[in-house]
Amino acid sequence: MAFLGLLFSMIPTLLLVASSSPRFQAEARQYDVGGRDGWVAKPSEDYNHWAQRNRFQVNDTLHFKYNKGIDSVVVVKKEDFDSCNINNPIQKMDDGDSIFPLSHSGLFYFVSGNLDNCKIGQKLIVLVMAVRQPHPVTAPPPTTTLPPQTVPATGLTSPAPPPSEKSGSGRVGVGFGVLVGFVLGGFIGLA
Ligand SMILES: *[C@@H]1O[C@H](CO)[C@@H](O)[C@H](O)[C@H]1NC(C)=O
Repeated sequence: MAFLGLLFSMIPTLLLVASSSPRFQAEARQYDVGGRDGWVAKPSEDYNHWAQRNRFQVNDTLHFKYNKGIDSVVVVKKEDFDSCNINNPIQKMDDGDSIFPLSHSGLFYFVSGNLDNCKIGQKLIVLVMAVRQPHPVTAPPPTTTLPPQTVPATGLTSPAPPPSEKSGSGRVGVGFGVLVGFVLGGFIGLA
């Protein structure tokens, strides 16, 4: 009985914990740029074609694999992307095996740090989706069925009374009371 009491007393708490921490965000994913080819001058699939097949989200990561010392990845601004200007980099990665976190939504521009490779198209634009805000949890509107109101002949209608704050907190109070009751019941059962 004591065990049952405790168990029952925990149910509302468990439900509360479960419902207050929903998982809105999918797990962050890691994308291998260029698939098996990696980051190379002549990938079997064009990088931007590859990018357009994917839906990148904030906190996803890009994995660049390339020949260290021969190639590198340079994160650049748009104007430098077009002209393959790698002298004004936002970030440079050259360890041959680089993870780049997509830390915000918007566009990221990558070019090969090997100028010849950049010029023949070893470049990548990644669009990261805007963060979708989860909908705030709102209680459904009360479904009270009122009889159809007759409008007084004067045309003056009294404003509907604002939803009572007390009834809401009262319900919480009752709920809490029940919870406390269960917990107490559990402890009393234990004693
Ligand atoms: C991304 O990660 C940071 C740090 O882990 C976290 O605070 C943020 O909420 C995450 N953003 C999204 C959209 O998942």
